[in-house]
Amino acid sequence: MSTQTNYQITLPTRVHFGPGSIAALPQEAAKLGRRLFLLIDPFLKGTPLEGRIVGELAAAGMKTRLWHDIVPNPRAATCDAAAAEARLWQADAIIAIGGGSTIDAAKAVSLATTNGGPVWDFTSRTNAEIGQLEKRGLPLIAVPTNAGTGAEITPFAVLSNPELKLKATIIHPYCYPDVALIDPGLHLSKPPRLTASTGIDTFLHAFEGYIGTRPNAWTDLFSIRAMELVATYLPIACADPSNIEARTRMAEACYMAGVTLGNVGVGIPHALGQALGALKDTPHGESCAAFLVSTVRWTLPEANAPLARVATIFRPDLVNLAETERANTLPEVLQAFFASIGLSGRLGALGLPRSDTETLVAIAMTNYGQDVACSLRPAGRDDLRSIVLASF
Ligand SMILES: [Fe+2]
Repeated sequence: MSTQTNYQITLPTRVHFGPGSIAALPQEAAKLGRRLFLLIDPFLKGTPLEGRIVGELAAAGMKTRLWHDIVPNPRAATCDAAAAEARLWQADAIIAIGGGSTIDAAKAVSLATTNGGPVWDFTSRTNAEIGQLEKRGLPLIAVPTNAGTGAEITPFAVLSNPELKLKATIIHPYCYPDVALIDPGLHLSKPPRLTASTGIDTFLHAFEGYIGTRPNAWTDLFSIRAMELVATYLPIACADPSNIEARTRMAEACYMAGVTLGNVGVGIPHALGQALGALKDTPHGESCAAFLVSTVRWTLPEANAPLARVATIFRPDLVNLAETERANTLPEVLQAFFASIGLSGRLGALGLPRSDTETLVAIAMTNYGQDVACSLRPAGRDDLRSIVLASF
């Protein structure tokens, strides 16, 4: 719910949206150069889709170098290795085809190719010296293969550092891809669990921005529509993965929630979820979702109006209840929604021992303090600890 009357909006990525948009790749790539370094999600390695893409680029006169060494929660060191290869190969541009991890890795590779590394030094960390990005990265085209992070249109690259057991984010306008090809036809092969895990991330981007301290009238438009689309179409996409209408609407929701994410940031579920991903290498969407219900319960007294609005997105029949009553239903409404898409929405399923609670809170406060600071109800360590303990 909008709180700001003075704000900036940045949305520089040019987007091709809709089934079949991948067909625009050769013509868009040709505008950027002839030597293309492709970061491709390992699940696509050797598939007909990969063969078709490489074949079409070759037919358009372009040379390609493929890189598949990408894992969920992408490693900063691997991005440095890919950048060294791209530099040696004299790449003109980077193409990312895959999930959010692939696109985030490609952003880091693009920046490290022109600025040098290590890329970890460019991530935001409290009380750490942050490296300055002197140059733009190589031009980047992002082709997401699921609806989740919105990385194709945001200024963030989330990286992990397993040696330090940390995750941190490069936050910089140079992270915006130049072009995004959002083709929901590429999302049809995703299984229900992955669809749910990535789709709930989309919901969280819209929700956390909407109930935070920074939204404005413009981002509210995107947040509310994204939440409406997720409420209707994520259960359909999970039940029927080949439903192109549900995939298209979820891809739109992801794009819209990405607008909110890129312009006003996220909140406590993401701060704790990123910390959990750093500690346990757990899937991003489920990691953040595990803290949603307890964060809502903790926030309730401070944010009745936006929480009541969200409750009626899922349950229009509640519209005649008083605002406080509607807001108070939201934890149960969200828990029921988790059940409808096959997620527990609880921390217990993700393998974090209670004894790691302090470590988790410390990582969230240190590396994701900017997200904690977006909470409508001001939060400190004690508050985060109580939210974590209520999430098991
Ligand atoms: Fe996210």
